[in-house]
Amino acid sequence: MNKIIVANWKMNPQNSKSAEKIFFDISKKINNKKNEVVICPPYPFLFIKNKLKDKKIKLGSQDVFFEKEGSFTGEVSSSMLSDFGVSYTILGHSERRALGEDNTLINKKIKALLKSKIKPILCVGETDRDHNGFYLSLIKSQIEEGLKDVTKNQIKNIIIAYEPIWAIGKDANREATPQEFIEIKIFIKKILSILYGPKIVDSVFVLYGGSVHPSNASSFVKEGDADGLLVGRDSLNPDKFLDIVSILNNI
Ligand code: PGA
Repeated sequence: MNKIIVANWKMNPQNSKSAEKIFFDISKKINNKKNEVVICPPYPFLFIKNKLKDKKIKLGSQDVFFEKEGSFTGEVSSSMLSDFGVSYTILGHSERRALGEDNTLINKKIKALLKSKIKPILCVGETDRDHNGFYLSLIKSQIEEGLKDVTKNQIKNIIIAYEPIWAIGKDANREATPQEFIEIKIFIKKILSILYGPKIVDSVFVLYGGSVHPSNASSFVKEGDADGLLVGRDSLNPDKFLDIVSILNNI
């Protein structure tokens, strides 16, 4: 696998008919020979991939609960997701952290996913950058605490997505620059190499997310050395998303 392109649909679209149409429009035209494409719809729309019998796109979820089963009203377990064909799960997205999710909870969810052979996509990123570099300590603790007790064998199955909060969504100030991304990627790899040793670190993918569009996708991969992209708004627009996928295919 070369690169990973993850579609984060968030709480969109508003009904299954629209969700099916977006999935279908992407699935019928996608050409992702060497790259992995993962679509993460809201839970009620996870069925669409199986309905379309699509084989080119991997299914992802936007959350999971860490317990195996039982009295946890409203929650969904990793084995339920795995049974449904989910192979990736976004965790620790800033929009979930804003609702109170902390590194300890994210860590429990990561360990539950790994047991079910689902690959966690751990999102990290700061609200703002400060001149003293405190944002770097925040990213460091998001990684260290999020990966607590994750073993050397398991780390290869974890994907990290750097998503600076200031670059996410339609109210974003701006996207990050490839230079800003690569500095953080090196920083993340350094933390991982302290935790797991330098050899293992090569196998961990670090993605960029935050206002990814067809116009900037190639620069994050070419100049920023991103191992893939996490796409929000543009993943709901099949033409734009397909453009991003084909841009990465042609690099
Ligand atoms: P965006 O969202 O591409 O709409 O900025 C990215 C994300 O939040 O994952």
